[in-house]
Amino acid sequence: MPSTLPDKTVRLKDRLEANEEFQNDHDNQIDNPTSNRPFTDVLNADLARRNLLKGGATAAVVGFAASMSVPAAANNFNDFFGRHPRPRPKPGRLINFRPVPLALGNGPVPTISEDYQYEVLIPWGTPLEPFGPDFNYPPSAKDQAEQIGIGHDGMSFFGKPVGRRYKRYSSRVGMLAINHEFGRNSHVLGKELPESLDDVRTSQHAHGVSVVAIAKRHRHGAWRTISSRNSRRIHANTPVAFSGPVAKSELLTTQNGNIPLGTLNNCSNGRTPWGTYLTCEENFNGYFGASNRETAWVATPEQERYGFSETGFNYGWHLFDRRFDLSDPDYRNEENRFGWVVEIDPFDATQTPTKRTALGRFKHEGVEIVVGEGNRIVAYMGDDQRFDYIYKFVSDRDYRQMRREGISPLDEGKLYVAKFSEEGTGEWLELTIDNPVLAARFDDQAQVLTFARVAADLLGATPMDRPEWISVAHNQDVYCTLTNNSRRTEAGPANPLVPNPDGHIIRWRDANKHTGLQFKWEIFLVAQDTHGTEESFSDPDGLMVDRDGRVFIQTDGGQKDGLNNQLLVTDTTGKDIRRLFTGVTGDEITGITMTPDRRTMFVNIQHPGNGDPAVTNFPAPQDGVTVPRDCTIVITRKDGGIVGS
Ligand code: FEO
Ligand code: CA
Ligand code: CA
Repeated sequence: MPSTLPDKTVRLKDRLEANEEFQNDHDNQIDNPTSNRPFTDVLNADLARRNLLKGGATAAVVGFAASMSVPAAANNFNDFFGRHPRPRPKPGRLINFRPVPLALGNGPVPTISEDYQYEVLIPWGTPLEPFGPDFNYPPSAKDQAEQIGIGHDGMSFFGKPVGRRYKRYSSRVGMLAINHEFGRNSHVLGKELPESLDDVRTSQHAHGVSVVAIAKRHRHGAWRTISSRNSRRIHANTPVAFSGPVAKSELLTTQNGNIPLGTLNNCSNGRTPWGTYLTCEENFNGYFGASNRETAWVATPEQERYGFSETGFNYGWHLFDRRFDLSDPDYRNEENRFGWVVEIDPFDATQTPTKRTALGRFKHEGVEIVVGEGNRIVAYMGDDQRFDYIYKFVSDRDYRQMRREGISPLDEGKLYVAKFSEEGTGEWLELTIDNPVLAARFDDQAQVLTFARVAADLLGATPMDRPEWISVAHNQDVYCTLTNNSRRTEAGPANPLVPNPDGHIIRWRDANKHTGLQFKWEIFLVAQDTHGTEESFSDPDGLMVDRDGRVFIQTDGGQKDGLNNQLLVTDTTGKDIRRLFTGVTGDEITGITMTPDRRTMFVNIQHPGNGDPAVTNFPAPQDGVTVPRDCTIVITRKDGGIVGS
């Protein structure tokens, strides 16, 4: 039977069928191809690895106690360590709940600890406003723009300000800002490739961010969406602004003169002390492709380094929307408009989402903001790709003073990339055009920031096993998940496993309360050490350390021992790991935020069943037919206690 698909759709489909990996593995596709891997400056990698493996999960490669004897970079460490001792959790008090047994953590519906309960909030397609368009599958482009998107990921709850004299924030009503990372065409459209611009628009509107008003009206009632002038959808076609050193660069202008639109592949997130939401653009490259209609596209070295390809991740947007066609000369540079951290005001729907270019352009997993020495803003960020890097940004001055002057603390500062050494120490290398190494490659700071990956390659940053989330503990330790790296062939500092199919978690502490250029690191947990035990987990991804020292770990990958992806809680010793919640078959557990009273936690079930109704129908009752929908899970303790306890 002759195909009814447009020719260009058929041609792309043929090419894609030969490349199944792209269909199923959204964030695991491209390696850093540079030659930072040999670790010429590393002497004892193998020894370190042997020590690690011998010592088990909680034995550090190089403990902080040992590393404190390294004097070279330590000018303020002792003072710093003295002022912020690591909290010593009392066993049995910090984490008290009964864990989900290993044997129960699988299947098409979630499981939760006996001491907890959960409810479902805002599945994909929920009307943003209570009386908005109901979900029909597949959604129309128009409806989807007024509904919750798909691919629920990083999020932050912003409690409504209450009280007059003292600032307090509600734990019962507020704005939930939530990322919609991705949704495959097969899930969103019910077909592999778009057949019209309208299909593309539906897919585009399913991506981005929702800012949605939610409330729990009655003590024993459920959380619901409520009407609010602050609720809004931000998607691939929403006007955005640029700020910071790259804002006026020609790197962000196109021949066509089209205004900047949209945010894409919004993965993890952050929040600022001044009450805004930060959404992070991760695998933006996958939405571009090349039709080669008029000119044949040849990737520049920079495009190659960021993973652009002729077919992208099979979304096919470029077939109907020229903006995403790399071979269209009118839209050259459009791709430089993605890969940034974007600031959103959750309480002002008229604010234009603003891309903060001083934080660099790479595949931003998330951004963890802390206030460092001198009230400077420090932003820790991972670039999630095999052998890519960890970055930090430090604002030039006291953030409150900057804001008083009308300057965003995220616009003026220095960007650094991490270089770990085998001795348990490390340093932050500045990405600046003042460095002759970078001046030999780039014309100005705008280029350095736009092609931050290339700049970091040149500085000899340490290639990591896919940095995902970063979270800073109350004692200033910085925790980072390294989700896995099946292609590692050589051990490196902080990345000792060869290969590393299951991931690990590291932690470090910077000198001078996050603003210094030296740090000390250690391994916190190695996933493979938990396999075969009740505490089994793999592929740590989402991460949050609460102010008491509970470490929440979310997973994204093939769990061992028959498990679904899960949410676990441990403490800063890593010795007591408990399973709080497991998702459904084929999903990912990601995104974590709490109400100010910490009695309510929100996490997400992303891509349940990978969109296949034969696998799961969650959150609908199991019927083998209903399309599963990404959703937020609201978790509370049955006795009303702090979540995680
Ligand atoms: Fe979107 Fe690296 O996870
Ligand atoms: Ca992730
Ligand atoms: Ca992941």
